[in-house]
Amino acid sequence: MSYGPDQILEGEGNSDYERYIRTSELLRLQKGPEEWVHRDELLFTVVHQTSELWLKLATSEISKSLEYLAANNPKMALRLFPRILLCIEYCHEPLDMLEQMSPWDYQQVRRALGHGSGFDSPGFNSVRKVIPGLWDEFTRLLEAEGLTLLELFLNHEEHDELYRLAEGLLEIDERMYLWRTRHFKVVERSIGAKVSGTQGTPVEVLGRLNSFLFFPELWEIRTTITNYAISQEGEN
Ligand code: HEM
Repeated sequence: MSYGPDQILEGEGNSDYERYIRTSELLRLQKGPEEWVHRDELLFTVVHQTSELWLKLATSEISKSLEYLAANNPKMALRLFPRILLCIEYCHEPLDMLEQMSPWDYQQVRRALGHGSGFDSPGFNSVRKVIPGLWDEFTRLLEAEGLTLLELFLNHEEHDELYRLAEGLLEIDERMYLWRTRHFKVVERSIGAKVSGTQGTPVEVLGRLNSFLFFPELWEIRTTITNYAISQEGEN
């Protein structure tokens, strides 16, 4: 293939595609066969690097939606929620790929990881840092409307935007929770449940972290609604 004068961008690579996407730099970010302790290092690296990229995009979208919320514009914030959810979702399926590694082969890959641990994932740590801000903005908007959470749920049709925001937050929480649960099973399947990770954290501790929720109030409100419905039945 020849690249004509229609290629106009500066940079490494033969075509504007390669220069814009920076494919040369990107594809150099994985070790080559000459450096592998095991060939599954490529599989392991691709899964982690792609997850980091999706989480980078998730952080950017959450940050932008926080800006919209701070400007009292939940409508535009909500427009970004499907993107945020897809970013988290796109970190789920690659976990299936990791289960293609045999536990013994993973032990060979593990030798190359040093003290590398998911606790130090920049993607997860930045997502974890920005998500709680969504709750602060949501409760601020709720208070501005003079509503309690229960009132919002009982009158959701009247307060459609705030209600959709509440459900969007719950959806983020659920997908993060599902990722942790799925990741835990992958860990158990790869290295077992009664051992420690690369930084010495027992896998059992990881299992306990699974139950973490960003927005417990949005889960508890379901119980409150059920109890409220029961109390209403008693009155009728
Ligand atoms: C074979 C695959 C994997 C194994 C065996 C594994 C193992 C572990 C272990 C043992 C821990 C506990 C901390 C430690 O001691 O390191 C952990 C935590 C973690 N891992 Fe993985 N992991 C795998 C894949 C992934 C992938 C693909 C990601 C995505 C970026 C990831 C992200 C994380 C995160 C964010 C934590 C902290 C969890 C939390 O704070 O709730 N891991 N992993």
